[in-house]
Amino acid sequence: MAETLLDVRHLPKAEGYDALEVQARAVLEGVTDSVAAMATWSAHLHHGLGHLWTGFYRVVESGRTLRVGPYQGTLGCLEIALGQGVCGTAAASGRTVVVPDVETFPGHISCDGRSRSEIVVPVFDSRRSLLAVLDIDSALPATFDAEDQRALERMMGWFQNAALQRG
Ligand code: SME
Repeated sequence: MAETLLDVRHLPKAEGYDALEVQARAVLEGVTDSVAAMATWSAHLHHGLGHLWTGFYRVVESGRTLRVGPYQGTLGCLEIALGQGVCGTAAASGRTVVVPDVETFPGHISCDGRSRSEIVVPVFDSRRSLLAVLDIDSALPATFDAEDQRALERMMGWFQNAALQRG
């Protein structure tokens, strides 16, 4: 495998997401390990979009805790309780949370003081049980909108259709 990671910042958003998705899905063909898949999505999305932090928090301890998984960027917090912060809120509700200004989100957890806006997308497996959340942090305010949400939710659908190993 000798894939060069794409940088899609010069493209219109929809086109950029499409290009990243095509490449990531090709690399992930036949992959059944969820951590390997998370690492691969993190690398594509981080280098493709160029935000501050891109990665996953995995559901552990029977769903009580989110523990950091594969990510790219600055140092991430290690654990987040379900229901806490943006990640814990998305995990508890099973819905994407878009935060245009982290300072106005009650209970926002700051892992990098430069973060200004954020999107967190729940990741489900084929049984529709919550596996993780994808978190992307931006150093600029109001970075993410409905278009980002649609594209990222579609990409995270990969986990629902994959034949992931259990355990
Ligand atoms: N801001 C997140 C915490 C994770 S870091 O930003 C990487 C939150 O409030 O859940």
